[in-house]
Amino acid sequence: MSKVRLIEMGPRDGLQTEAKTIPTEVKVAFVDALSAAGVDEIEVSSFVSPKWVPQLADAAEVFARIQRKPGVRYMALVPNEAGLDRALAAAVDKVAVFTAASESFTRKNINASIAESIERFRPVVQRSPVPVRGYVSTAWHCPYEGPIKPEAVLPVCEALLELGCTELSIGDTIGKAVPDEVARLLDVLLPVVGADHLAMHFHDTFGHAVANSARAHAMGITAFDSSAGGIGGCPFAPGATGNVATQALVALFGESTGIDSTALEGASAIVRPWIS
Ligand code: HMG
Ligand code: MG
Repeated sequence: MSKVRLIEMGPRDGLQTEAKTIPTEVKVAFVDALSAAGVDEIEVSSFVSPKWVPQLADAAEVFARIQRKPGVRYMALVPNEAGLDRALAAAVDKVAVFTAASESFTRKNINASIAESIERFRPVVQRSPVPVRGYVSTAWHCPYEGPIKPEAVLPVCEALLELGCTELSIGDTIGKAVPDEVARLLDVLLPVVGADHLAMHFHDTFGHAVANSARAHAMGITAFDSSAGGIGGCPFAPGATGNVATQALVALFGESTGIDSTALEGASAIVRPWIS
């Protein structure tokens, strides 16, 4: 099996919805345990407005305290130039901008239209000395608008590529997509974006995420976002639960992920008591 890359979302997507403040040292221990387990790309936190996502207000402190393991890329979400400045001051290896294929979700999540979000990202990508990932949320279903057509996703992907994003992560934000829908969207995206520049970001609300990952992999996708223990969700996507569990994708893709299952369990155990 070709090498599968798992991008760990636990510390960011996994923790961002938790209402009770999780101590910084728990987050730091979680990130360090993930790198020790063999995870080589970790979304550590986000540099967004602390009023919008209070749980991740300690992003800079988390970055300052983690043990950087050589070869591991430590990434953060940034919504604008202010976020980029904070992320660069924290010495991130990669940043991620985020928009969506539905107008309603983009408005609720980042208080902008899709077009405005792209313009907001332009100086972020231009100024960033580190690679920039671009998220496209609600690529199959939107909590406010219902089903989303592949034709609405493609132009957002093209706009992010045109800005200079090196990788696109396609989000099933509310975990409603089924494998045939995944295939229909990939039929449209793959000829334009190419498998090397695509990652899948499946939430597992309805239990389809493993089947969706298998289907995408069969079509040539080798990069998947997941969270240790399947924790998480988006505060601006009602009903969304966690990402597909990293454990489930390690079970599906096996050794090619380079992740040690026992050590991964140890990492999950660090945050489990803090998850509601
Ligand atoms: P806004 O209120 O429209 O923007 O928010 P603003 O520019 O008027 O700023 C409001 C306040 O925030 C100001 O402070 C700014 O200084 C401050 P005040 O004057 O009121 O004291 N501010 C910042 N502070 C720190 N860092 C920043 C920053 N930017 C502004 N970077 C904004 C617009 C984009 C900032 C806001 O909507 C926001 O932060 N949204 C974040 C939403 C979020 O994090 N959502 C969850 C992540 S996305 C997700 O989970 C989906 C994903 O997993 C994929 C999938 O599942 O589909 C990626
Ligand atoms: Mg997500």
